[in-house]
Amino acid sequence: MCGIVGYIGPRDAYPILIKGLKRLEYRGYDSAGIALLNEGLNVYKCRGKVADLEAFIHDKDISGTLGMAHTRWATHGEPNDVNAHPHFSQSENLAIIHNGIIENYQTLKEELINRGHQFSSDTDTEVLIQLVEDIIENENVELEEAIRIALNQVVGAYAIVIISKDDKDTLYVARKGSPLVVGIGENEFFLASDATPIVEYTKNVVYLDDEEIAIIRRNGDFKIKTIKNKEKTPYIQKLELNLSALEKGGFDHFMLKEIYEQPKSILDSIRGRLRPNGEVILGGILDYEQKIFNARRIIIIACGTSWHAGLVGEYLIEDIARIPVEVEYASEFRYRNPVITEDDVVIAISQSGETADTLAAIEMAKSKGATILGICNVVGSSIARATHAGVYTHAGPEIGVASTKAFTAQVTILILLALRIARKKGHITQSKYHQYFHEIELIPEKIEKTLMVNKFVKEIAEKYKGARNFLYLGRGYNFPVALEGALKLKEISYIHAEGYPAAEMKHGPIALIDEEMPVVFIAPNTGTYEKVVSNIEEVKARKGKIIAIVTEGDTAVRRLADYVIEIPETEEFLTPLLATIPLQLLSYHIGVMRGCNIDQPRNLAKSVTVE
Ligand code: F6R
Repeated sequence: MCGIVGYIGPRDAYPILIKGLKRLEYRGYDSAGIALLNEGLNVYKCRGKVADLEAFIHDKDISGTLGMAHTRWATHGEPNDVNAHPHFSQSENLAIIHNGIIENYQTLKEELINRGHQFSSDTDTEVLIQLVEDIIENENVELEEAIRIALNQVVGAYAIVIISKDDKDTLYVARKGSPLVVGIGENEFFLASDATPIVEYTKNVVYLDDEEIAIIRRNGDFKIKTIKNKEKTPYIQKLELNLSALEKGGFDHFMLKEIYEQPKSILDSIRGRLRPNGEVILGGILDYEQKIFNARRIIIIACGTSWHAGLVGEYLIEDIARIPVEVEYASEFRYRNPVITEDDVVIAISQSGETADTLAAIEMAKSKGATILGICNVVGSSIARATHAGVYTHAGPEIGVASTKAFTAQVTILILLALRIARKKGHITQSKYHQYFHEIELIPEKIEKTLMVNKFVKEIAEKYKGARNFLYLGRGYNFPVALEGALKLKEISYIHAEGYPAAEMKHGPIALIDEEMPVVFIAPNTGTYEKVVSNIEEVKARKGKIIAIVTEGDTAVRRLADYVIEIPETEEFLTPLLATIPLQLLSYHIGVMRGCNIDQPRNLAKSVTVE
């Protein structure tokens, strides 16, 4: 949700900022802007993508070795040129970029209007920079102190960068609830919402904590203070990010690249965790294992695709590890006064590690004494830091807005966790354990094989690309896969799609079925297979079009379906990892055929840092 980049040092800032914005464009792409400090303070901004900003700037003065830039996902004020960031203060001496929401901006704005301030945009961000200027003028303090005072008055979330026309050598940066990373180079500093714009310049980074202000000077002086004015020592960490992971690598879209990366990302998720001695070890949560084994229940909190992974987790942990599990939308959980005790273990799942609702739900559960574990993809992210302990998915950067490889990696970690608990609590026989262990090791290979359906899935996409609705049906472990398949199609192709437990169809959705309705069944030959075949019969009897994901060699479904997509045989609890792949491909191809923007679907942003 909004991307922030900044630079101060000996180089020209413009190319660094524009390149950085392109890396962060997945966070929001309705408008973009840049501020460069040279003889004056030049601000250029416009509605549209970073490419539109570049075109807008092509004949402007782009000199300057200090600057900041922003790509926006609108919250307050429609996406237009005026509401794009950066925003000036009234005197145009100061400029700000901001990611987050200032919740009390209306009250502050009214007070500022009463004191004679005029506003040109509808944004909460402009209120913050006007407030800073108001404090400088009325309290006769320096900029650094004014920022501190202002941040003590605002309620909400922010990652901000402020620059001043009168100080050509300083960047002021602060965060609360929205991420900010400072890259430390040789006599130069880089700022960004995540490390992707920074990694090609330096591997040394500092992740700012909540309520911290960084004052970054050209002479190499880098100070961190809290908004209560307490000095902090910067904690420098080494980035483990590979530049090639940020490129499309010959694929047309990041989404397709990330779908194809799944054999490797799953291998990376299990690497070092399935030990040669037959043990499953999740190092990050070893110290909390007794808590998990003795948990009264496990509550999984997440949003969107990560919530779907959590649902698979519920089936897994209850089935294999025999601990009661509840799965909650973080956005509901945080506001519904749930009963939580110290015997509960909460698992927060998040690709980005920045989702505001998940973060808030964590804080709430923590305050009630629960043990909080995380399953995150982004190392050093806010959720990773807010939890007591956690496991990284190691799927590598996911840049396509629609989550693909993060989902299968999350499910993989939940599988390892369920197996570990089952083994330690004695809920699984020795031979079953080894059988499962071995089957997990085979999954990357089986995903590789599943990806070979791509060409066939493209043909199916061609056939149904014009459909107005889709239904996705699955049972047991594959009910969440049906939800995930439907979500992918909605996001990428803007076709309305519903996911349902297959047996629920007759309680309502069956009314939708006619010869126009494609129904995607996830029907591997495990668990409730026969029941799902009966559901397929019911759809067939009503002339629905049937696309079915089946196990290799299936004959019963083949007789009924218009198209069958085969996946390799595996254990029931592993089928979501394979069945998801053709559904990702189906939505990808339909999206491409409909001319949709695959990596940046409309209205979406990769990390949702607002409620
Ligand atoms: C769907 C998608 C979203 C995210 C959701 C949670 O493709 O990407 O539904 O899954 O916004 O995001 P994270 O996992 O970053 O907390």
